[in-house]
Amino acid sequence: MGPIGVFDSGVGGLSVWREIVKILPDESTLYYADSANCPYGDKSQAEIIRLAETVTCFLIEKGCSVIVVACNTATAAAIDYLRSKYTIPFVGMEPAVKPAAINSVSGVIGILATQGTFNGRLFHETSSRFASGVKMIIQPGFGLVELVEAGDFSSSKVSELLHKYIDPMMDAGADHLVLGCTHYPFLSDAIFEITGGNIAIIDPAPAVAAQVKRIVSEYNQGSLREPVFYDFFSSGDLLTLETIIRLISIKQAINTNRLSFRE
Ligand code: SIN
Repeated sequence: MGPIGVFDSGVGGLSVWREIVKILPDESTLYYADSANCPYGDKSQAEIIRLAETVTCFLIEKGCSVIVVACNTATAAAIDYLRSKYTIPFVGMEPAVKPAAINSVSGVIGILATQGTFNGRLFHETSSRFASGVKMIIQPGFGLVELVEAGDFSSSKVSELLHKYIDPMMDAGADHLVLGCTHYPFLSDAIFEITGGNIAIIDPAPAVAAQVKRIVSEYNQGSLREPVFYDFFSSGDLLTLETIIRLISIKQAINTNRLSFRE
């Protein structure tokens, strides 16, 4: 099969990419960061569909066999359209409301996502299906994507915004916090400093990677294809993308010979 295509409005989808390569070490990947157009969160649905389609066409031309929309906002706005137009399988981000609602003891859960994700059909359907028995505190994470894109995971500005968004959730007794944007897992340490571990943080990336694995196993006959490569493209500046990827690679012992970066 061809490489697994992964795209996001920027670097956030790397939180999904790292889970994919962890459980599928023998598959090549092609990651596209649409950094020139980041953030997607405050764009219209029509604009996000246009951007997502441009990236999709690029990934299909490069021979990808499956495309992971590693961006909650793009999933909310564009995945129905993409699935209706292209035959290639798409895996999107799930707002992980279900595990939070099922496991909540206090009956209060917090959800941090972009406004675009909250506006989407998927969020409304998932919430009314799984979270009718809990109180949901919904908070758009204004400004967080921009900080992560700048490689800032821990400054006083990050802490200030996180306090503003998470303190009211804690005051209301939330025991689960859903990270509804793929950029936010990069702020996990800063979030932990605020919550002190008193709120379970839900990152949907491992579940999304597991879904990719299920699709990939349908393609594969068990043969090992060499060499495995991890190609990265960006519509904008590659520097932050490359820095974060190198950090992830060190942490996950990823073979850096597999990495290549293109503008
Ligand atoms: C954004 O580009 O605004 C955020 C991406 C996401 O929702 O994951």
